[in-house]
Amino acid sequence: MSSGNHYEQNLQADNIISRVQQAYPNGADQYQLAPIDQLHIGGIKASQKLLKHLTDGELVLEIGSGLGGLMRLAQQQNNLQIIGLDISHGLNKLNCVLAGLSITKAPTTVITGDAHLLPFSENCFDSIILQHSLLNMPNPTQVLNECLRVLQPKGKLILHEVLEGENVAEMKFPVPWAEKESGSHLMQETELKALIVDAGFELEGFSDWSTEALEWRKRQASKEQTVKNLSPVVSPAMVLGDQFSLMAGNLMRNLSGQSIRVVELVLKK
Ligand SMILES: C[S@@+](CC[C@H](N)C(=O)[O-])C[C@H]1O[C@@H](n2cnc3c(N)ncnc32)[C@H](O)[C@@H]1O
Repeated sequence: MSSGNHYEQNLQADNIISRVQQAYPNGADQYQLAPIDQLHIGGIKASQKLLKHLTDGELVLEIGSGLGGLMRLAQQQNNLQIIGLDISHGLNKLNCVLAGLSITKAPTTVITGDAHLLPFSENCFDSIILQHSLLNMPNPTQVLNECLRVLQPKGKLILHEVLEGENVAEMKFPVPWAEKESGSHLMQETELKALIVDAGFELEGFSDWSTEALEWRKRQASKEQTVKNLSPVVSPAMVLGDQFSLMAGNLMRNLSGQSIRVVELVLKK
């Protein structure tokens, strides 16, 4: 199954739209949309940390923009222009509708396309962000080459991704990004670093966020348990389907058992 299908086969777009419209007639804020539009480990805080690497006035591309939580945060907090690209057309359509239902109502620019073949010319972006999307991409070398091509000289590539941990052999599926191992494209730290250098990037920063990622997942699990019986307005299950609680449980097991790691990398062209 392609990663696009993984995110679209259970997507309840109409249900999400009518619930958000009904619950938040004056517009939903970032926290109200976060269960569906921050589909990565670490939620809003992780996105805010990534956005600190951007400077006012930049033209930014987010690859694998999903339902657009990071894009909306960037529009609110930073004086910059951000374009989203995602392979899942259904997510892109919903992203645009959610922008109109959000508190700021700022329009969003999003393109349906594949990171392996970016529909942009050379040297056009100041920065590119990938947040939990390289993990779905079967040819990371080609994706890094494409990022290098469309980045301006001295442009930045910011990655917030999941890597293989030392106990990767014990990894449990399904996880939120893949039902089976065949849909998950994780690498070892050394492998990713070698690809980065081979592509021609300079590694400016590497941080391991695994400890805070596990703490975040534990807090989310207890919140999800509390709101379960209260019928939350939106939930990740409305995107990822009924298997979401199993996926989330496996995510926590994989983090605590060190089958996976969560890292941030900052690269310079
Ligand atoms: C785990 S979701 C993360 C979404 C978003 N970055 C977030 O954090 O909320 C992964 C996203 O990557 C997108 N994706 C996967 N493969 C892609 C590709 N080859 N090109 C563009 N987008 C892709 C998926 O459609 C999905 O929206």
